[in-house]
Amino acid sequence: MIRINSRYIKEYDNPIDTNRKDEIKEKLFSNHPMTAWTNIDTTISKEEIKKIKIIRDKIIKEKVDILIVIGIGGSFLGAKAIIDSLNPYFSSKKPEIIFAGTTLSGKYLENLLNYIEGKNVYVNVISKSGNTLETAITFDLIEDYMKKTYTNYKERIIVTTDKENNSLRKKAVVENYETLNVPQNIGGRFSCLSVVGLLPVAISGIDIDKLLDGARNATKYLDDAFIYANIRYNLEKENRVVELITIYEENLESFGSWISQLFGETQGKNGLGILPVTNVYTKNLHSIGQYLQEGRKICFETVLKILKSSSLQTKEKLSLQKLNNIVLEQVATAHKEGQTPSLIIEVDEMNEYTLGELIYFFFLTAAIGGYLLEINPFNQPGVERYKYLVNEELKNVR
Ligand code: PA5
Repeated sequence: MIRINSRYIKEYDNPIDTNRKDEIKEKLFSNHPMTAWTNIDTTISKEEIKKIKIIRDKIIKEKVDILIVIGIGGSFLGAKAIIDSLNPYFSSKKPEIIFAGTTLSGKYLENLLNYIEGKNVYVNVISKSGNTLETAITFDLIEDYMKKTYTNYKERIIVTTDKENNSLRKKAVVENYETLNVPQNIGGRFSCLSVVGLLPVAISGIDIDKLLDGARNATKYLDDAFIYANIRYNLEKENRVVELITIYEENLESFGSWISQLFGETQGKNGLGILPVTNVYTKNLHSIGQYLQEGRKICFETVLKILKSSSLQTKEKLSLQKLNNIVLEQVATAHKEGQTPSLIIEVDEMNEYTLGELIYFFFLTAAIGGYLLEINPFNQPGVERYKYLVNEELKNVR
């Protein structure tokens, strides 16, 4: 169960025009382009869920040490967010999931290749377009290692890409790799509940049925998503252009990064949009907390409040969970005095079901926010532009 609490941000919480709301609902739920994520049954089919579970069971049976997930942006952030949010902070559970393809650091890849030496490794490369530079370079190097190391390398590489004949798909066909098809009517940042996110998530031991159940039942939060999107819209009009996605549980940092990408890529266009920044408390209370209290009045905070996570008590028998939430409320009060308002999103407990609900709720908020700004929520021309320029330059150096 999730609840929106706007008590620290009331002045920005006014009702949204009903006609505008109906117009947006129609755009979301009437099979418009790139909105297949609004329906879980068009996000992932029963057959795909079955296939994911077969691959997961094989990997577990073969006692695989490491799954390397190669992808960037929407092709990895959601899976990482789910895995980090739901797994323990410290664990020696196998397989270890390692994300690669998010950097062009030679040092990182060199270290990774050394680290996997002698271990039982599988690879899942994920790219909708099949031609993203970071993913392609990383996959080339890892594929080369797999070919040199395993006679059965073909069984160890799973390719998640578009059905179209892109270069990654062509390679998968030539090598006869196992493939999963990225849904065509869903963009990268809205795809973590499809085959894009769910294969690594399932392999990490998370119950994907419960995650999908949570998302499937989250259309009930449509009104809350309108409230949150409208508050953000009103804040932006008042020049509140920086949103601190604030969490008090460090393993939710990747979830914060996923939300930042979802909001940033969806709404940051045409000279509009709020800059989302992941913010971990209480750590950052001792760094940027000063700015939020007394700096420029351009920020607001969206705070994820988890009501139940641990039963550990301090030596004085005060529950740490209670203490964390006392700090959360007092920080919101202090920052409001300093004219940085906070919106609180309360979650009873972080588990597969509530995380599924939250993911769908943030999907809705991002898309509604895009429609309120009258921009296309589902493209990312800015990202495409840098990809294009790099590829042009590479023609000169290759
Ligand atoms: O959300 C998006 O669409 C982007 O962040 C893409 O996911 C990212 O650029 C990676 O693209 P691809 O999956 O085509 O490699």
